[in-house]
Amino acid sequence: MIIGLLFMSVATLFAQDAGAASTSDSISTETILTYSLLLIIALEIVAIVALLRWHRFFTGIEGMEEAKLESLKSTNSFNNWWNSINKFKSIENEDDIDMGHSYDGIRELNNVLPPWFTWTFIASIVFGFGYLWKYHWSSNPAPNQYQAYEKEVAAAKIKQDAYLKSRGDLVNETNVKMVDAAGVEAGKKLFSSNCAVCHSDKGQGGVGPNLTDDFWLHGGNINDIFKTIKYGVVEKGMQSWKDVFSPDQIADLSSYIITLHGTNPPGAKEPQGELFNGDATGGATGSADSATAKAGDSTAAKK
Ligand code: HEC
Repeated sequence: MIIGLLFMSVATLFAQDAGAASTSDSISTETILTYSLLLIIALEIVAIVALLRWHRFFTGIEGMEEAKLESLKSTNSFNNWWNSINKFKSIENEDDIDMGHSYDGIRELNNVLPPWFTWTFIASIVFGFGYLWKYHWSSNPAPNQYQAYEKEVAAAKIKQDAYLKSRGDLVNETNVKMVDAAGVEAGKKLFSSNCAVCHSDKGQGGVGPNLTDDFWLHGGNINDIFKTIKYGVVEKGMQSWKDVFSPDQIADLSSYIITLHGTNPPGAKEPQGELFNGDATGGATGSADSATAKAGDSTAAKK
């Protein structure tokens, strides 16, 4: 009856709405009927489910099922395992651990410590002895945290040095040294593919000055040469190579140029600049350029 009444009222409500908006036929009677039908079906399903539940409750089926679940719980394997690892006594066997003391009806029971707890405790004692031996008693004890820290810092320093070396950042015009034969060979390759256009294949000079004689425009020791290559003499047509080559490569090039000294290649360009007769491989600067070289050094070092 309720459903019937509902259906009627809903239908009339929709019909009224439709009438109010009489001009637009947006909600047809068909849609109203479809939705009413769906609503009725939904209400019926709710009613059926409710009836089923009542039926189960009043016939006692529900109670029986709950009792069954309860009995299942007691045979649950997890519970059994939990009781056994804790050595729990069931209430029925409580008399076994009764201490015979009763205070106002409260009995004292001798419940054992859970075995897992006892074993963990014993294991920690054993571990403690192992630890003491390893860190304090052994002839070669493991490092304490300060020593471990220092060890790690030292290892990191080695890594850092290797990294800086691979970057070549440690080499600049203040500390550059003659490189080994392999480095000179590498410098020779770089020279012939990058510098020979202006300084000629044997360094005898062309557009650029002769690099084999005793005369230098910008200083003839390895520091000065390194600096000339690094920063260039841009206004005279010698570019700065610091963005093209790594510092190590510039050191290779500088060393190669030092080895060219005195080779007297044919077709050498006339001497330019000042006579340099100091130690070219890193000794005192023998050129007038040394003052400016030193000034440049300090700015370069800051960079
Ligand atoms: C475009 C031509 C050109 C190229 C390429 C070139 N140079 Fe130069 N280089 C010059 C000129 C020009 C000068 C002279 C600058 C001056 O008059 O102050 C010079 C000067 C130098 C000097 C100083 C010589 C002195 O008397 O003090 C060195 C060292 C040098 N170049 C090395 C190199 C190296 C190494 C390369 C290759 C990486 C190279 N140059 C590539 C043109 C060139």
